[in-house]
Amino acid sequence: MFTRREFVAAGLAGAGAVGSGIALAEGLTGQGARASDRPADVVLKPQQINHPVLSGITTKGMMSYAPAGPAPVLRMKQGEAFAADLINGLDEATTIHWHGLRIPNAVDGVPFLTQPYVYKGERFRYAFTPPDAGTFWYHPHCNTLEQMGRGLTGLLIIEEPEDPGFDQDLALNLRDFRLGDDGQFIRQFKPRLAARGGTLGTVMTANWRVEPRYEVSSGGLLRLRLAATDVTRVYRISVIEEDTQAAADVRVIALDANPVPVPFPLEVYPIGAGQRMDLAIRLPREEGKILRIETQSGAGPRVLATLITRGPDLGRSFAELKPLPPNPVLEPDLANATTLPFTFSWSAEKSGMESICGTLGYSFWAINRVPWPGDVPDPGGPLAELKQGQSYIFRLINETPNSHPIHLHGMSFKLLRSNKRKLMPLVSDTALLLPNEHMEVALVADNPGDWVFHCHVIEHQKSGLTGYVRVV
Ligand code: C2O
Ligand code: CU
Ligand code: CU
Repeated sequence: MFTRREFVAAGLAGAGAVGSGIALAEGLTGQGARASDRPADVVLKPQQINHPVLSGITTKGMMSYAPAGPAPVLRMKQGEAFAADLINGLDEATTIHWHGLRIPNAVDGVPFLTQPYVYKGERFRYAFTPPDAGTFWYHPHCNTLEQMGRGLTGLLIIEEPEDPGFDQDLALNLRDFRLGDDGQFIRQFKPRLAARGGTLGTVMTANWRVEPRYEVSSGGLLRLRLAATDVTRVYRISVIEEDTQAAADVRVIALDANPVPVPFPLEVYPIGAGQRMDLAIRLPREEGKILRIETQSGAGPRVLATLITRGPDLGRSFAELKPLPPNPVLEPDLANATTLPFTFSWSAEKSGMESICGTLGYSFWAINRVPWPGDVPDPGGPLAELKQGQSYIFRLINETPNSHPIHLHGMSFKLLRSNKRKLMPLVSDTALLLPNEHMEVALVADNPGDWVFHCHVIEHQKSGLTGYVRVV
């Protein structure tokens, strides 16, 4: 199945895991070593394609993990081994990162830190067993503004062992593209905006379509999975009944893949770049009713997608759903936790760093005063060294007037408190820091290796708002 060269390349996954020998061992225990012998569950080939995002106009130079249309929605089962082969069909280096998955460091997909670059024509195997259920996504961690901006973002659904009882499951990959009037890509960012909130796209899409409509069963229970894979936007989600203009019968059941402590009715809820939200929707009983999935923007509500009911009334109710079981994330020991401050600020430093993974040429941002674009050799070691098995409180200090969805690889944390608002005790991989907000989150450092910690507004990430923590 593997030629010798490919086998060597797969072996290099471990060799490239700088400073994380334990992760290498773990990555190859059982699943990893064996996974090399079997065919991949999926082959993902990033490549340039042409695709009509705007009806009747072909956008050239989009990027997908499939030869036509958006990246496939990957489905796997919690606790079951999975293997994907990346075959690079791009003219530049790439990798795949599995956003939100608590898997071994050697398959985390960060060039330099956890694996070698995967150059044009090369293959790399990612084998892991997903420990958590929920809505996740995958994307490159190399030249990310360009590669993600052109379409390389895919959804990943990890099913609970027991079916919670929905009639339908619909996943929407929410993202904007920066296209000109002619439907072709324009420059991905403006430096002036990168130094502020980030540069928004010009065309809002769901599953690469503008306001797609989906048929759903009248009176049924729909699980709607929303993933903000955009490089910039904070979505403010609501679901509106077209007839009444009122909020539809919707409960938020999970955020960032983890079930919420108590499902709550959706009015408007923000999800920043990288975040996900699972909704349970009790659909209207009559046929032909329309629900609008909207985001609030500065210019008022914008429709992302619509649902229309079809067929006879299924007569379902929320009470028939099984609650989602919590994921097996360890509870931090707050009484014995060490507090680590992380300050997110503007940076005055000039960027001189060149990167195979593309550089924006600017350093606007920094963590603990050090700017780093995240995919070039690091400027001075990890932001912090954590002892495996110990509990930590991360004090996230946003010194800027902008929002930052702050994301940690490899481990999930629990939201504790904020100086600005009351927080639900959510378990998450991405915390949306509001302007000037100070937030504390806690975790057990249970996954050894070097884990990137960055803002998911990709311009911020690529102009300094990146660091990593080391778990030993
Ligand atoms: Cu969604 Cu470092 O990534
Ligand atoms: Cu991630
Ligand atoms: Cu940011």
